[in-house]
Amino acid sequence: MLLDCDPGHDDAVAILLALGSPQIRLLGVTTTFGNCAIEDATRNALQILKLAGRADVPVAVGAAGPLSGEVHLGNYVHGASGLDGPELPAPQAKPLDIDAVELLRRTLSEANAPVTVVATGPITNVGRLLRDHPDVVPQIAEVIFMGGSTERGNHTPTAEFNTFADPEALDIVLRSGVPVRMVGLNLTHQALATPDVVRRMSTMPHTVGQTSAAWMGFFGDSYNRLWEFDAPPVHDPCTIAALIDPSVIEWRGAFIAVELDGTWTRGTTVVDLYDRYPEQPRNAQVAMRLDADRYWDLVLGAIDRLGTL
Ligand code: BDR
Ligand code: CA
Repeated sequence: MLLDCDPGHDDAVAILLALGSPQIRLLGVTTTFGNCAIEDATRNALQILKLAGRADVPVAVGAAGPLSGEVHLGNYVHGASGLDGPELPAPQAKPLDIDAVELLRRTLSEANAPVTVVATGPITNVGRLLRDHPDVVPQIAEVIFMGGSTERGNHTPTAEFNTFADPEALDIVLRSGVPVRMVGLNLTHQALATPDVVRRMSTMPHTVGQTSAAWMGFFGDSYNRLWEFDAPPVHDPCTIAALIDPSVIEWRGAFIAVELDGTWTRGTTVVDLYDRYPEQPRNAQVAMRLDADRYWDLVLGAIDRLGTL
């Protein structure tokens, strides 16, 4: 798989889950603005790969802003660096000198089988890829994105952050003809890093586990302050857990669209779970229910595997 991300505390855990799971081969990481500015997201990605002992994974820098409209950042959740909390050593590796779209395009074109693209930030890079290089569509097994919701939002009352940050890019992805799976807030709010989960991380006898626990501490404080959560929802790794173990998430086919206008609702996903628009073909699978115990076993198992390598 390829991972397009904006790390970010939960993106960081998604990277660890991918790297620590023998079922997954991570072919590259592309970065985007989102939780923080693009420079910060890229540095964070390199630091996380170093922490995981996988500085060999290629990283390419992506979009500094959306296809249209203003740049919106999530530092109010993830802190000034985008990954506040524990100090991480400075990375030695550098990003490639090709950009994110080019790394995605090349990797897909050169692969001998279709590759899954997972997007855990604003989906600008993937939208740009599909807009500018539609010839790669047959090489994409599917796009699994974290974003949207069947219910309410978080960045605005109705819009989730990633879909709010670049709705035009998501619109391109939804119309592209690639198979799409949406992992929205309705699902990820079931993926709570409870005190027991954080204790299981912090008692691991290695830096990868203890750093993950400290990330959850910072992220949890943000979620408590902003949205009154008792434990933080660890959104982004849900996308990858679904690839590792299909039984971890229940899905439902639906027509989904994203609001591009709307006085108050720009970036909101419209998810037609009950076929209220019968003329609109179903264009996505929507994540509905998470087996949280299984999910945390996968995530914690991967973190522990990386830490003890
Ligand atoms: C999404 O926005 C960011 O805060 C997280 O990394 C996640 O991708 C949740 O709305
Ligand atoms: Ca993210």
